[in-house]
Amino acid sequence: MQKANQMHTSKRILVVGSGGREHALAWKLAKDGADVFVAPGNAGTARQATNLPINASDTNAILAAVTEHNIDLVVVGPEAPLVGGLVDALTAAGIRAFGPTAQAAQLEGSKIFCKDVLHTNDIPTATYRQFRSFEQARQFLEDREDEPVVIKADGLAAGKGVFVCGGRDEAIAAVEQLRCDPQFQTAASGILIEERLDGVEVSVIAITDGRTIVTLPPLQDHKAAHDGDQGPNTGGMGAFCPAPFVDDALLAEIEERILVPTIHGMRRRRTPFHGVLYAGLMLTAQGPKVLEYNVRFGDPECQALLVRLESSLVELLDAAVDCRLETLAPPRWNDGASVTVVMASEGYPGPVAKGQPIRGLEQVAALDDVAVFHAATTPASDSPDTVLASGGRVLAVTATGQSLARAKQRAYEGVKEIRWQGAWCRKDIADKGLRHQRELAASEASSAATGMPLPAEGTP
Ligand code: AMP
Ligand code: GLY
Repeated sequence: MQKANQMHTSKRILVVGSGGREHALAWKLAKDGADVFVAPGNAGTARQATNLPINASDTNAILAAVTEHNIDLVVVGPEAPLVGGLVDALTAAGIRAFGPTAQAAQLEGSKIFCKDVLHTNDIPTATYRQFRSFEQARQFLEDREDEPVVIKADGLAAGKGVFVCGGRDEAIAAVEQLRCDPQFQTAASGILIEERLDGVEVSVIAITDGRTIVTLPPLQDHKAAHDGDQGPNTGGMGAFCPAPFVDDALLAEIEERILVPTIHGMRRRRTPFHGVLYAGLMLTAQGPKVLEYNVRFGDPECQALLVRLESSLVELLDAAVDCRLETLAPPRWNDGASVTVVMASEGYPGPVAKGQPIRGLEQVAALDDVAVFHAATTPASDSPDTVLASGGRVLAVTATGQSLARAKQRAYEGVKEIRWQGAWCRKDIADKGLRHQRELAASEASSAATGMPLPAEGTP
């Protein structure tokens, strides 16, 4: 991977964040010819961009860096600075920024706000009740039938404030866990009890300027830590794109019944939404329903998307910031598919050991169709060429291929080259998509075999 071609005409873009999503953004923006800075970045972003030692939550330092480095556009990766008002501060200072305002970011920052937007605009979602005290939530569970429910703490909880429960006892235990865990004392300023939905989960991500949406190809994330969707929830252990569960007709329905009414609803409540609208959806027997909204690219979904994007991301983000998406040609995607496999440190999603040297990055760099995005890495202080693992999700090995099967094979060929002490990954990323493709092919073959010839036109 080469540093960006630093021509005097290139756009100067600052990406805020330090994970695999931000590495993928920096990689693609640099590929499009931009001069990219990342705050704070990681050992991977340093290869395509200039890392600035600034924390993503340090608004004043980000404002100063924009002036110092003559930045044209700021792209905010993670949710916390968005919910914290970074885009508001940048916009107030006359700086172009991609992402929603703090108020609009409440769509992710508050599950109660999100449900209110969905409910007011008749957007399909699980039925729910909202409580302001643990006692009321518990009483409600004791008084109603013993049914599967989902307990959610309001507020950002880094994916940990959601409990999918088989029945009443589990649900009461979840409410008790929220009550006792100091981590949830702020997040649980409100509690939601939701109907538990069944179906296939998919992610549909759109870029919007508040009026027009550009819907990106559907994906599937893998939230559980272990193969077969077993084990604790994580930030995401892998993704594939496109998700074959969503055909063009279903994608059009998701736009019409979910994404567009959300954008209109946000404008009507005077919290217009700009940036990335990420819908986490359950495909139920009654149609697609919203599980949650995120207000930023998913991680690792972003990595799986951007390796397929052939047209310019710089132009897409610029058009969104300047409210002219309507005039932009639709983005172009490569024909095949992509698969991202996250490699994690021993112990993730719990506490992890840090500082192990990672081997094999040069070998994998030589593989065609495979890109390694760094999520939690740092250069060794005594040897800048040595990369150390510095967190839970460490690398996102991402491959493209003519088919989903080929992309999976290439991604795991990349994984095989890389090692550090305690490294692990899921072995079944994309398998649900491959199974679905096989089932579709089998059902098409059997309907072709049993299909009755249509009567000739005009026969009674
Ligand atoms: P959220 O942070 O709201 O997306 O929830 C995290 C995960 O919990 C989702 O990806 C789903 O797997 C699951 N989940 C959330 N809400 C529901 C629901 N109403 N029914 C079933 N599963 C859910
Ligand atoms: N991979 C899930 C997320 O980014 O929220």
